[in-house]
Amino acid sequence: MGTDASHGVTHPSDQDASGRTLGEEELATLAEVIASGTLTSTKGTLVAELERSFAALHGVRHAIACASGSAAIHAAIAAIDPEPGTEVVTTSVTDMGALAPILYQGAIPVFADVDPRTGNVTGATVERRCTERTVAIIATHLFGNPCEMDSILEVGARLGVPVIEDAAQSFLAECGGRLAGTIGKIGCFSLQQGKHVTTGEGGIVVTDDDALARHVRVFVNKAWPYGEPHPDHEFLALNYRMNELTGAVGVAQLAKLRGVVEVRRASAQALTARLEAVEGIRVPWVAAGSRHSWWKYPLLVDETIEGGAVAVGAALAARGISSAPRYIQKPAFRCRIFQERRTFGSSQWPFTLAQGDALDWAESRYPGTFGFLGQVLVLPWNERYTEAHIDLIASAVTDVVREARKGAA
Ligand SMILES: Cc1ncc(COP(=O)(O)O)c(C=O)c1O
Repeated sequence: MGTDASHGVTHPSDQDASGRTLGEEELATLAEVIASGTLTSTKGTLVAELERSFAALHGVRHAIACASGSAAIHAAIAAIDPEPGTEVVTTSVTDMGALAPILYQGAIPVFADVDPRTGNVTGATVERRCTERTVAIIATHLFGNPCEMDSILEVGARLGVPVIEDAAQSFLAECGGRLAGTIGKIGCFSLQQGKHVTTGEGGIVVTDDDALARHVRVFVNKAWPYGEPHPDHEFLALNYRMNELTGAVGVAQLAKLRGVVEVRRASAQALTARLEAVEGIRVPWVAAGSRHSWWKYPLLVDETIEGGAVAVGAALAARGISSAPRYIQKPAFRCRIFQERRTFGSSQWPFTLAQGDALDWAESRYPGTFGFLGQVLVLPWNERYTEAHIDLIASAVTDVVREARKGAA
């Protein structure tokens, strides 16, 4: 919990019970698993139940649970089965867990720029980075705000490559009435501690494609097709299974997801109403026909504010309001793994297979990325925020921004 120094009010945190919706229901399903004595999902029933419920909620044929959001992305890439050196076009603003799996499968992550309003890739930005070597496009719905999927799907269809949705941050977000994760060929979710619903660590892959679903399921099981006749270890793969204890928490959490998202939407709307007229900042832009599901509440701080998002974040911290200026701080391609090509021993593989301008990360190619990261101020968000919490945030942001503008005038 963060204590608000000036008002003695605490903001609930998604890192502990104060900002999580965990309780009796999770304890009951956990007790069921413990009593059964079966903790592996290869023999138990709770992970299977989570998969059935998740698929039903999303209206898809298949949901496959796994150990993390990173494992979900890895399984999705493995199911595409890229030839080494082929390219996966993805976003420059994301978690490393969404990028490392591409390299592990021998493919080259090719970074598309983002829309400076949202931090999301667009049809235009991915198209610019597609080549004849592109084998997949990843659309990451940042902070719960859906990408404009139609234009991205159109690029994928034109090139004949699948679109993978990274919905780790966007449970129940909607684009044109379709749920995030169900719009492309494969959708990936994370159940990590701070997500809309959580099992501490965990992931889920969804798809309507039977062959891809089989590949994902076999991949997370060391390539062993449980339940099929004449099983064998079919290809290179890992144990990325979710266990029954995790599945038990997941079943109880999933039943709460709709309520969690509703509350987050209502409180985000209340903050937007309070901040939309404040000069010097911009509230989140959401595309027509889309519904945000508010993993976080990202503000954009104008250049007119001296010190920008970093200065506003520091002034908010002094008032006991936490925020993350610049989100991941720098574009993913500026991290050491990419800059120094630190992969397997000293081989630099698979970067050594890259062709053309796949590894050209010149700043001039990424105006949206640098613009967005320079301006974004991410406010933590969760379903336990009350009117009082929103009120404190709104007042603090308004005061801090007005003071900064006065100082600059
Ligand atoms: C967009 C995105 N993709 C993938 C991941 C990786 O998920 P995990 O941390 O569960 O491995 C995250 C984690 O925060 C994420 O935000």
